[in-house]
Amino acid sequence: MPTLAVAAAIFRSSPKLRSFSSLSKIMDNVTPPKPGFRAASSFVYDKAFVNGEWVAASSGKTFEVLNPANGKLIGSVPDMDATDTENAIKVAYKAFQSWKETTAKERSALLRRWGELMVENKEELSKLLTTEMGKPLAESAGELGYGAGFLELFAEEAKRVEGDIIQTPIKTRRLLVLKQPIGVSGMITPWNFPSAMITRKAGAAIAAGCTVVLKPAEDTPYSALALCELAKEAGIPPGVLNVVTCSRDNASQVGRALCESPLVTKMSFTGSTVVGKLLLQQCASTVKKVSLELGGNAPFIVFQSADVDAAVQGAMGAKFRCSGQTCVCANRIYVHESIYDEFVQKLAATVEKDLKVGDGIAPGTTQGPLINKKAVEKIEAHVQDAVTKGAKVVCGGKSKGGNFFEPTVLSEVTGDMRCSKEEIFGPIAGILRFKTEEEVVGLANATSSGLAGYFYSRDLGQIWRVAERLESGLVGVNEGVISVPDAPFGGWKESGLGREGGRYGIDEYLEMKYVCMGGLN
Ligand code: SIN
Repeated sequence: MPTLAVAAAIFRSSPKLRSFSSLSKIMDNVTPPKPGFRAASSFVYDKAFVNGEWVAASSGKTFEVLNPANGKLIGSVPDMDATDTENAIKVAYKAFQSWKETTAKERSALLRRWGELMVENKEELSKLLTTEMGKPLAESAGELGYGAGFLELFAEEAKRVEGDIIQTPIKTRRLLVLKQPIGVSGMITPWNFPSAMITRKAGAAIAAGCTVVLKPAEDTPYSALALCELAKEAGIPPGVLNVVTCSRDNASQVGRALCESPLVTKMSFTGSTVVGKLLLQQCASTVKKVSLELGGNAPFIVFQSADVDAAVQGAMGAKFRCSGQTCVCANRIYVHESIYDEFVQKLAATVEKDLKVGDGIAPGTTQGPLINKKAVEKIEAHVQDAVTKGAKVVCGGKSKGGNFFEPTVLSEVTGDMRCSKEEIFGPIAGILRFKTEEEVVGLANATSSGLAGYFYSRDLGQIWRVAERLESGLVGVNEGVISVPDAPFGGWKESGLGREGGRYGIDEYLEMKYVCMGGLN
């Protein structure tokens, strides 16, 4: 199985697909959706979702969403503003008063059903996701399985939120710890995982008894709106999940409204470090609890003892999944000098053999378009900067027109190049040389980011040493694709705050309360 198909399969759960007749509508991207309705059965909605209703922006304004593979219009959705956001927050606050009183068992059943509906509709949702985001269909299906996995996980975790009874130091008292939902949770989600980042956040919040106001990325609102329809179908009550869509122009006022509202007590954001820092400042005004999943600059180290073929396969997944557009993508590939030439040659050969650039909808595509023209320009600038400073293009290196870029391997990369210092977020594998473990661990940690790190080694002592010394929230040892719903995801240093997923993810949406019962004889 090609490497990226393996990566996608890791996220996949067993499909139970419902068949639909009009998939060609989404794929043509030209049929405007009916107002507030699922167009035929295609999950394309043209309204935002507040209080269980499909609603327009109060201004009546809309913005266009384009397919990154061909620039064609998919449709238009409401361009909401701060007033619309404040209205959605009030709705979520009202809904919270009753939602927090539901039992964990009730919330669990609804979340489970929501996840099942994602799986039942996976085929159609995957096509929608590929159409608005660009990733190949197999990866979209993988994301849908991954996303549904968070709902299954949090359906289970809802029932495991437990308090404590503490040994009392005073005989006449009993000391208890309660865990209670934190309240209305604001969320801003990214375009690279338009479905799974929603369920990773909203699944945890809803399981805990919180209500949600969520702004999806302007490039990918349709997957978010499709999830609203499925949440409604699953029976999640009005006001518990609200999605406010807006353009890039209105994003800062919508974000500010979420961060500064006193009714919102929790904020969760996935996106760039620059924006994360801004939101954190805005949240300070109301001292909100904040979760941030920000940028990375992941080292991928291949030690002398590594199985080079396995390391090449790992690098394929870690680097080229989602055309290099994940925050856990390998950013700096360090290879021991003794196996450097072999690794470079094998990686380039595998890239040329296994990767096919094209529209994600087309069979056989493994590398979809980048999200937009600006992303392509950034990748071009990275290649040019590296070549000017002495790197060699082993394969790829050029734009292929539109938003497409050739998967690229660069050798003789050094630490002063942009592709080593900045998050690439595109399909460039830059390969650096190292001599010693101490040197490479130092280099790996010499960054303000700390999201993911990977290494390949067959030396057990080295495996423990390096796993413990890497300064990152996630470490892949002899594995290049490590994200699963069951494990905690989050970064150290400027890569973020808090954890999502796993049994830890629900804690972000809970407050602890100490109750002292006195006067007991
Ligand atoms: C991300 O890039 O934001 C998420 C990647 C993942 O969950 O693997």
